[in-house]
Amino acid sequence: MIIGVPKEIKNNENRVALTPAGVAEFKKHGHVIYIQASAGENSGFSDSAYANAGAVILPTIEAVYEIAEMIIKVKEPIASEYALIRKNQLVFTYFHFASSEALTKAMIERDAICLAYETVEKIDRSLPLLVPMSEVAGRMSIQEGAKYLEKPMQGKGILLGGVPGVNPAKVVVLGGGIVGTQAAKMAAGFGAKVTIMDVSLARLRYLSDIMPANVTTLMSNHYNICEAIADADLVIGAVLIPGAKAPHLITKEMLQLMSPGTVVVDVAVDQGGCIETCTPTTHENPTFIIDGIVHYCVANMPGAVPYTSTLALTNATLPYALQLANKGWKKACNENEELKKGLNIANGKIVYKGVAEAWGLPFEEVASIL
Ligand SMILES: NC(=O)c1ccc[n+]([C@@H]2O[C@H](COP(=O)([O-])OP(=O)(O)OC[C@H]3O[C@@H](n4cnc5c(N)ncnc54)[C@H](O)[C@@H]3O)[C@@H](O)[C@H]2O)c1
Repeated sequence: MIIGVPKEIKNNENRVALTPAGVAEFKKHGHVIYIQASAGENSGFSDSAYANAGAVILPTIEAVYEIAEMIIKVKEPIASEYALIRKNQLVFTYFHFASSEALTKAMIERDAICLAYETVEKIDRSLPLLVPMSEVAGRMSIQEGAKYLEKPMQGKGILLGGVPGVNPAKVVVLGGGIVGTQAAKMAAGFGAKVTIMDVSLARLRYLSDIMPANVTTLMSNHYNICEAIADADLVIGAVLIPGAKAPHLITKEMLQLMSPGTVVVDVAVDQGGCIETCTPTTHENPTFIIDGIVHYCVANMPGAVPYTSTLALTNATLPYALQLANKGWKKACNENEELKKGLNIANGKIVYKGVAEAWGLPFEEVASIL
């Protein structure tokens, strides 16, 4: 198959959908790979690294879309890319159709085959192409939190791990899923005193078994949250209710319970945030202060560490991309239920219910196009 990898052009997106190692893997299976010049630059991969692995470098994004049967990307196509997408071209990327009617309609009109990373789903209902970014954001939340606890960053001036003879910082993690678990592990590694809270007793049992001794598990309810945040130095928001807005576990009034200079990192800000006062910020301007509390609410945290994020993402996407290239999208989706769940739009039809419902557009069962 002829595969094309364009350079990401969405604002502040530094990741790339394929590494030189991925190129070599595709080559091994007899595929031809075209990469847009400088596509991997911001992730630390030079054009010559791709060329050495066997890719052909093309100068423009137009040339990549023109030649490829399958486009592999990271972010959803932006408006200037819509017209480049051709009939029956397979596009494998994050789409998040339910948040853009324009994109949904454009892909129907272009008659593209849209396989969305975010809806590829395993039998246990986990989302294997979202997990790596949650892992990055979870780990990064502690790194950022530690930085903003420093006095020049307007934090309390506390070192996460303390030093011999001085208490470590107290970290409260709301939500014990992928983000929360990675955050708790990192904070514990720094030597902080960590409390991780969740509503799932089964999850708390698991966390209690695997976490080091400086991590305590606690049932998430209003009473316990009020007590926990009262002497916290760093609070991580990592709650998710699938398909819904995050619940506001910390309201504006509850900020009064915390001491000035406390840092809140609301990783769940992309779902509305679990701290009421959080609104999305950017890497250029990541924090703001309300009632003395430092709020860090960057909605695309992995974007700041494109090298790690690209490798983490491509480790997860490559096996699926290879199946699509080796078998063609129909056979690959027929033989792999996980990939089939990724199909959102094909043959001009919406075949993913959530997307059709989001825009009140007709829905067709995926079987009708396979
Ligand atoms: N800002 C970013 O750059 C970024 C990057 C990746 C992920 N995220 C977001 O981080 C959030 C968490 O993602 P995840 O992959 O860890 O999800 P997850 O599904 O793995 O974990 C969510 C956890 O929240 C728990 N939960 C639900 N209600 C709760 C409550 N009231 N109190 C405490 N816990 C509760 C669930 O039981 C679950 O364990 C999501 O909103 C995701 O979109 C943001």
